[in-house]
Amino acid sequence: MREVTPLGPLRGSVRVPGDKSYSHRAVLLSALAEGPSTLTGLSPGADVAATLDAVARLGALVEPDEDRVRVRAPAGGLRPSDAPLECANSGTTMRLLCGVVAGIAGTHRLVGDASLSRRPMDRVATPLRLMGARVSGLGPTLHAPLVVEGGTLRGIEYRVPVPSAQVKSAVLFAGLDARGPTTVVEAVRTRTTTEDAMRAAGLALEVAPEGGGRRVTLAPGRPVARTWSVPGDPSQAAFFAVLGAIHDDASLEVVSLDAAPERVGFVGVLARMGARVALHDHGAFHSLTALSSALVATEVHSHEIPSVDEVPILTVAACAAEGVSAFRSMAELRVKESDRFAGSIELARRLGAAAWAEGDDFFVEGLGAARRFAPFHLDAGLDHRMVMAAAVAGAAGRGGAIDGDETVATSYPHFFRDLALLA
Ligand code: S3P
Repeated sequence: MREVTPLGPLRGSVRVPGDKSYSHRAVLLSALAEGPSTLTGLSPGADVAATLDAVARLGALVEPDEDRVRVRAPAGGLRPSDAPLECANSGTTMRLLCGVVAGIAGTHRLVGDASLSRRPMDRVATPLRLMGARVSGLGPTLHAPLVVEGGTLRGIEYRVPVPSAQVKSAVLFAGLDARGPTTVVEAVRTRTTTEDAMRAAGLALEVAPEGGGRRVTLAPGRPVARTWSVPGDPSQAAFFAVLGAIHDDASLEVVSLDAAPERVGFVGVLARMGARVALHDHGAFHSLTALSSALVATEVHSHEIPSVDEVPILTVAACAAEGVSAFRSMAELRVKESDRFAGSIELARRLGAAAWAEGDDFFVEGLGAARRFAPFHLDAGLDHRMVMAAAVAGAAGRGGAIDGDETVATSYPHFFRDLALLA
């Protein structure tokens, strides 16, 4: 358990870890490429470490060297591992790896921790089976441990039924080794990290708008080795954006960020709430500034934040706002590292706000200008984003206690240090 104390005036600049999504893709593409790749700025969390371990088990050479990691495919390409591929807490590792190993002849076993073993994997098994892989797991929604029988795949056209960059990415990774092109159609635009990284690795992708979403077609091919420089993670910047906005006396900056449109929906939400939070374009990267603000309630639809990763921290912003905020179509929150739908409502209530669910929507009646969050005790359900959202509330409010705080190690091992440095 960790006690979070209220923090005094907040000033300063934070460099958040390298983007987790980009890090996973850069590692996987490097392990598949011809020749050695060098990666800098990788996310230092356990999730990306799991992807590095997995590609090493598949035969890739992984050499950490001070602030960089070198990755190289084995002669003859990746091959099945005798030991299971340990994906730990990382859904991205498990789902993207399913796509990678589907194209590697042989039997692959994938395992995860208790949280990951509760998450549905049928969403990737369905398209991979259509491509010719055999995928088995536990129960109707296919939970880990998983067994994937990889082999020769065929390209398919697949319409992703739930907005999910992980599913899109699993299919595209499998498509690298397939006969014929692979097309993924998404009705809602999800993050384009895989498409961007694949293009950077010399692969041929065509992207066209379709309805409100996109049609992405990949020609099979082998990525080229390169130097990857990973930008800062905007989803981690979101914690400091809300911290700055809800704190009584704050002027914060987060430097060196990726700001792809699908990743920074939270900035638009906060702007609508009246937050003095802004992104600044510096060409190769962005920074974000956040100043103390008086917030008003808003309505947030999941399409604005397709991965819904920033909803727990936006719930904290809603708790500090005047009026009732609505979070619409948030079913996907239930199948993240924890049930973040229930967890976000629970966190709001523990802070003293009224919060309630109606179907897949939930509502938060904020405490308004007084912003007197109650001191709280929260079990964060072994979920890093719930821990960080609660910590921000405690630091800006009247403190709190968080069980499961060690799970920040999955994505942001130095979160509590960086938070303390701002006071
Ligand atoms: C991710 C996609 C999102 C997000 C996760 C990382 C990715 O999941 O929640 O933290 O790297 O592709 P979904 O695409 O399944 O919503």
